[in-house]
Amino acid sequence: VEKYPGFQRDDKYKKLTSTDVDYFRSIVGDTGLIYQNEDDLEAFNTDWMNKFRGQSQLVLKPKTTQQVSDILKYCNEQKIAVVPQGGNTGLVGGSVPLFDEVVVSLQGMNQIRSFDDVSGILTADAGCVLESLDNWLGEKGFMMPLDLGAKGSCHIGGNLATNAGGLRLVRYGSLHGTVLGIEAVLPDGTILDSMSTLRKDNTGYDLKQLFIGSEGTIGIITGISILTPRRPSAIHVALLGVDSFEDVQKAFKQSRIQLSEILSAFEYYDNNAFQIFKKHNDARSIMDNEYPFYVLIETSGSNKDHDEEKLNTYLEDMMTDGIAQDGVVAQDESQSKRIWGVREGLTEALGKEPAVYKYDISMPVSKINDCVLEMRDHLEQGGAFGKPDSPVIDVVGYGHVGDGNLHLNIPAKSADPRVLELIEPFLFEWVSKQKGSISAEHGLGISKNQYLSYSKSESMIKLMKTFKSVLDPNGILNPYKYLPTK
Ligand code: FAD
Ligand code: MLT
Ligand code: ZN
Repeated sequence: VEKYPGFQRDDKYKKLTSTDVDYFRSIVGDTGLIYQNEDDLEAFNTDWMNKFRGQSQLVLKPKTTQQVSDILKYCNEQKIAVVPQGGNTGLVGGSVPLFDEVVVSLQGMNQIRSFDDVSGILTADAGCVLESLDNWLGEKGFMMPLDLGAKGSCHIGGNLATNAGGLRLVRYGSLHGTVLGIEAVLPDGTILDSMSTLRKDNTGYDLKQLFIGSEGTIGIITGISILTPRRPSAIHVALLGVDSFEDVQKAFKQSRIQLSEILSAFEYYDNNAFQIFKKHNDARSIMDNEYPFYVLIETSGSNKDHDEEKLNTYLEDMMTDGIAQDGVVAQDESQSKRIWGVREGLTEALGKEPAVYKYDISMPVSKINDCVLEMRDHLEQGGAFGKPDSPVIDVVGYGHVGDGNLHLNIPAKSADPRVLELIEPFLFEWVSKQKGSISAEHGLGISKNQYLSYSKSESMIKLMKTFKSVLDPNGILNPYKYLPTK
């Protein structure tokens, strides 16, 4: 569990009194709060990776937007710090308190508000679980435009707050395009109703965009309006075994030519990542042999035979041209699940290592594997990797090739400050040289906020701080995170 070195509780925030708790109880009722019950508080104080831990004594679970408004208005007046929390699957420590901040959990706000099956526009409470929304839409022939390994727990509000990317961004685009409206509560309790269900609306600044990716620092998102695509009737999944990252790129380039409009995912993982998966799962590989890289391709279309033919031809071409050494098309749903299961299971497998340094970076696709190799070299030269007694277990890469997004993961035998010092800021400098981003999709939270200047200019950070101080002048929302504090 990381200890937040250098962070001190800011005394400007009020410590909770029993009067405050009584007031909150009058808003959410007895069942809408957890107070001073360590067992029940534990899950809200600890993040998914079990890396960060706060000491909040109070979790509030409002059921309506008005309750969220009443809570924030009071917190703002009293200067009580607040951490908005969705499904608590975030990977940068943004969703848990550092000290005694009050957690406002959206899990009690989980109702679908409306759905238009002509336009495909869905409106819902922010606390709806992504997978539940997707299942609900599935029955109507639609789907959510985003998908991620954490779908069973993450909330759509949390997805917006982090601007989550995920596994199908290559096809359906980012939330900045698919979200049509939001309802959010500002720190002073103002309810910002921007629940537009219009695809076109050029009237004034597009303020909802400011909330997408704001990680709970300027308001609590309580409702969303989102454009959902038709659910494809034909889905195919294939796995390629590939010898080099050069060939991964060739396979990607060719997939856009041959699979074009039906391509819905193009993911990769290296064999080192696969070895970690195997260590923690007794799943048998779908391929007989192992390869340096694996590519997962998914197609989504409306004509099974046509899509199958396209995918089979593509696979044959990849093998004939020597780009892929092996290729398997899933023959049924269970094989598809098996293939996706490895890719989606990497996060959990890495989480079972004694410690893991996680990085989520974007850069030109051509640089993705260079980053992994250079990090291996760097750690080896620094004496942290490559020998049986080295602290680093491995350096592994996987990610969303189609989005130029690498997940660089460094499992280690223990959380070791010497290893961290070797990785940071070396990696951020490297990324900055490639004009990449130090956080492609997971956000900044408490893990990356101090390094923001590697991705954003001084003038942009200054403007971000101005926005923050205008919208949250008392700094009650998600303090210590997101913007650099040092
Ligand atoms: P939380 O973790 O609860 O919160 C995340 C941040 O958003 C916090 O700063 C919190 O304060 C804020 N927040 C949450 N809800 C609200 C709200 N209603 N209003 C205002 N602020 C709020 N991310 C990707 O981008 N792509 C992936 O492919 C991906 N895969 C993942 C796979 C696994 C197995 C796991 C564990 C995580 C993965 N993630 C991925 C990271 C994470 O799931 C996403 O960031 C997700 O969008 C977080 O949603 P959540 O509801 O869990 O938010
Ligand atoms: C993924 O793509 O699997 C997620 O972003 C989570 C991770 O980086 O492990
Ligand atoms: Zn990802």
